Amino acid sequence: MGIGILSVGSYLPERIMTNADWTKLIETSDEWITERTGIKKRHFAPEGVNTSDLVMRAAEKALQRANLHPQDLTEIIVATDTPELYTPDTAALVQHKLGVNEVPAYDLAGSGCAGFVQALAVAKSRVESEGGKILVAGVELFSRMMNWKDRNTCVLFGDGAGAAIVAETKSQSEILATYAGTDGSKADILGLEIGGTRRPITAEMIADPSYPPIVMKGKEVFREAVVRMSQAARVVLEKAQVSLEDISLIIPHQANLRIIEAVANALEVPLEKVYVNVQDYGNTGSASVPIALDEALQTEHIRPGELVLMTAFGAGFHWAAALVRL
Ligand code: UT7
Repeated sequence: MGIGILSVGSYLPERIMTNADWTKLIETSDEWITERTGIKKRHFAPEGVNTSDLVMRAAEKALQRANLHPQDLTEIIVATDTPELYTPDTAALVQHKLGVNEVPAYDLAGSGCAGFVQALAVAKSRVESEGGKILVAGVELFSRMMNWKDRNTCVLFGDGAGAAIVAETKSQSEILATYAGTDGSKADILGLEIGGTRRPITAEMIADPSYPPIVMKGKEVFREAVVRMSQAARVVLEKAQVSLEDISLIIPHQANLRIIEAVANALEVPLEKVYVNVQDYGNTGSASVPIALDEALQTEHIRPGELVLMTAFGAGFHWAAALVRL
């Protein structure tokens, strides 16, 4: 028996914000956003809906599809950079709201958009050592945390959640190889330097029109994302002794269509083999890979038994890849 993904679920809040909607708020255009990013629209959560609510909706779908009850879960890992509270973590809120037993629940926070794929690797090793069934979620509620006046960043993001259940499987489903890496020297290129011990939030800071001060050196992030995602993909292929030709679908983190095209180019695979939905959801951070995985399964872009390669990159810098037989 291998350790694999039993089921997947995702959730996108109903409110849709198009590029045209953004043009009413900031100086931008549909042409600029489409040409530079490929994004046409994104989903935003309404007031009153918080990070744990998004996870709940995705988790409920994943549980239902695996024919499991919340009490069957033995652990919860939530990957997010937009937690509901500073403390306790979102995973604790999910444990309570879902009605899961008093099992370990923790966030994998601050890994940027690589969080879900990193969490998959953690879940696999936890099942190896402890057994059980682990809920692994990736979630972001960027619309609540981003700077709505900063056109360099605000048009890129969307809200959403995705979840997978990792456990021993009787089928051929298996997480064949995982890999993750970090380069903390690049912390000043992409991040939100606020609210921690270095820069506690003050009244003056909140009154500043540039609040919250998201740092993003777009071109450097772009270059690094392409190199790291394609390298990470090659590492898991090597670890599992699988060739790219055997992969049915590559699911890269969905940040920018041009980044995805460059990764396909670097891996020398046609774009048809690469899943793309950034046009519909924007960059949903840790949620982007599980949302894409769920959508690819539901639309039969990938079928049980086939090999899928997930690769992601985000703030830190962190990067991670996973090769999975579904
Ligand atoms: O998950 C990680 C999150 N971040 C990323 O993945 C970001 C990775 N980087 C990127 O996706 C791209 O670098 C961006 C989409 C952010 C930017 O694309 P670019 O081709 O690197 O554009 P640029 O930085 O060269 O900006 C060109 C111009 C600038 O104007 P000037 O200085 O040339 O006059 C910007 O001020 O575009 C301007 N600009 C905009 N114009 C209209 C920046 N944002 C906007 C906007 N609408 N929303």
